[in-house]
Amino acid sequence: MEKINTLISRMTLEEKAALCTGASAWTTVGIDRLNIPSIFMVDGPHGVRRVKDEFDMSEKSRPATCFPTAACASATWNTDLIRQMGEAMAEEAHAFDVDILLGPGVNIKRTPLGGRNFEYYSEDPFLSGKMAVSLIKGIQSKGVGTSLKHFAANNQEYQRFSIDTIVDQRTLREIYLYAFEIAVKEAKPWAVMCAYNKINGDYCSEHHQLLVDILKDEWGFEGFVVSDWGAVHDRVKSLKGGLDLEMPGPQDRRVKAVVEAVKSGDLDIEILDEAVRRILRIVFKAQEVERNSSFDKEAHHALAREIASEGIVLLKNDGILPLKGETQIAVIGHSAVEPRYQGGGSSNINPIQLDIPLDEIKKHAGEERVTYAQGDTGKDIFDQSLIDEAVEVAKSADVALLFLALPASIESEGYDRENLHLTQQQILLVQAVSKVQPESVVILNTGSAVTMSGWIDEVKVVLQAWLMGQAGAGAIADILFGKINPSGKLAETFPIKLEDTPAYINFPGDAGEVRYGEGLYVGYRYYDAKKMPVQFPFGFGLSYTTFKYSNLQVADAFTDIEGLTISVDITNTGKAPGKEIVQVYVHDHEASLSRPIKALKGFAKVKLAPGETKTVSIPLDFRSFAFYHPDYKNWITEDGDFDILIGASSQDIRLQATTKMTSSLKPPCVLDSESTLREWIADPRGYAAIKPMMLEMQAMFNQEFDSDEGIGMDPMGMIMDMRLDSILMFQQHALPIPVDDIVDGFLREAHSM
Ligand code: BGC
Repeated sequence: MEKINTLISRMTLEEKAALCTGASAWTTVGIDRLNIPSIFMVDGPHGVRRVKDEFDMSEKSRPATCFPTAACASATWNTDLIRQMGEAMAEEAHAFDVDILLGPGVNIKRTPLGGRNFEYYSEDPFLSGKMAVSLIKGIQSKGVGTSLKHFAANNQEYQRFSIDTIVDQRTLREIYLYAFEIAVKEAKPWAVMCAYNKINGDYCSEHHQLLVDILKDEWGFEGFVVSDWGAVHDRVKSLKGGLDLEMPGPQDRRVKAVVEAVKSGDLDIEILDEAVRRILRIVFKAQEVERNSSFDKEAHHALAREIASEGIVLLKNDGILPLKGETQIAVIGHSAVEPRYQGGGSSNINPIQLDIPLDEIKKHAGEERVTYAQGDTGKDIFDQSLIDEAVEVAKSADVALLFLALPASIESEGYDRENLHLTQQQILLVQAVSKVQPESVVILNTGSAVTMSGWIDEVKVVLQAWLMGQAGAGAIADILFGKINPSGKLAETFPIKLEDTPAYINFPGDAGEVRYGEGLYVGYRYYDAKKMPVQFPFGFGLSYTTFKYSNLQVADAFTDIEGLTISVDITNTGKAPGKEIVQVYVHDHEASLSRPIKALKGFAKVKLAPGETKTVSIPLDFRSFAFYHPDYKNWITEDGDFDILIGASSQDIRLQATTKMTSSLKPPCVLDSESTLREWIADPRGYAAIKPMMLEMQAMFNQEFDSDEGIGMDPMGMIMDMRLDSILMFQQHALPIPVDDIVDGFLREAHSM
């Protein structure tokens, strides 16, 4: 720190301004005079996209391991594995002289239409946050930085550079910021990348509340905030708003604007110095590590395969998997030969090697047992002849394996999907093939949920293989042939139809705004509240074995500060070794604000041999029970009962117990004479104070209501939403008790606490 402060004192104004805007597409400015090196940042979340030319934004990058995309990685629910993925990516970053990897992305999958959902983890902020923590810790443990992105509420591609996200503070905190908060506090990323969009009127790149008040001051973030590439509009305003580094560069006019703003007194030099300090801290941190120039390609490929095999989710299995030595196997689909294994855009990796599903199936089954038909073009194009050909191949086999991948023209960074179904060609293909071949297996390569009406009932198996990385083909084959027991579970709900989805009415917005009208009710929180059936729920996934849940241990009572550790026994009751993902949801019996029916607060993945039992312990902390109260501008807890729900999925709750929490954090009193009667009653202290008045009023109104006097309704119902001062005004004459004194006394006492 000393060294950095000395450097800052020796830097000219021009040097400081220059440091805060990139030197090239991927590098920061180095200052030779002061021995300040430049650092190199590259995308992205599932591999190292190192271009040769630092001024080129889109050239093909140097070959690197293409790991499974976040959509697949999160479905592993395996934090150890994700950490290993981070370590491996860091080794590759070393070899390419990269200092910071631009990822992970923890934006919430608000709707399955989101074009970039493949790059994000989940519809649930807790799961997203924990996945990000593992990846960041893995990468940073080897001295390579991460840049957590895109901060914040960047949940669609439509008008992504300008859209104004209109979202209430509670939803922002509990859903859209929470994964960032977990990752920032637990894993300390070196950088946070601000999003392109606006939130409630301000660009994220200039959003003081977001970047300074919340991220830096409240969460204690010590790294630098970098702009998404091209997200800065007004450089001076963005510095004031807390954005430290603008990318890409060079942008001379920006540097000049900053210099002039300091000279004219418009920009406080302290603000610029703070940005410089934050950047320099990371620049020098990046120099602390020894770099290896090589990495073990085979080991990384094997790791990519292992992650894919744990992230692939078996959604339906009417008894045919694992394959049992069928004599003839028909493989159908363009993507069996040209797999779709990652998404388009900035995260696109040039893979070191690419496994092909058809080849991997032949390796298991033997060349002679496998026939192939293309089935589709890999694009959204209808071609009946390909369907006819596939039907012929399927007919003469014992089983048909249909590889169906959403074309890149439908799903990518830069644009959202228009619907949730497969292409017309693919739907007709499945229908035609399954008509002649009852043993049909569908393997999906999509970055997010698809709907399945019109074909799911016709096929025996659905295997969700996501965009599964360069080694995913081998993982699919391992699962089909039973070499690996599937253990992935959905990190997002698969709805029955698009119209069911939470954001349906508000997406993608218009007139430059998208209103998050569904509030907290995103993903399973919405389907729970609506009691709406879904195709496959959040947290769901099948296995080749079965698991029994027993012996749930939950203390009867606890305090929010201590938290609570629960434990449960999981037994593998089937014949195959397997892994189970145990999920802990918390349900609040009663709260002063509406709350989703349940929320994920813990999980564990446990490996079990047949017959084996393990006890899983999962800690729950203050936040597992708290909610964000916009009046108190804080997370609060309230005394009361909570159910601890242990699920094999969000809709398959196997065990539950009720426990009583004592809140140690008494919320400050926000009642005053302008609060409504309902608000006074909701606060136990407020209620105690006005109770005498309430009883008097009740008695008086009852009399009126029961007689023929009055206005033919129960006035109690009407006055609940009136402000206390209005009620006092007209009740003073009628009530014989000194209400004013009671209320004044209460307020004096409450506010002096
Ligand atoms: C993307 C970021 C990416 C950056 C650099 C932007 O368009 O939104 O995710 O890190 O480009 O490639």
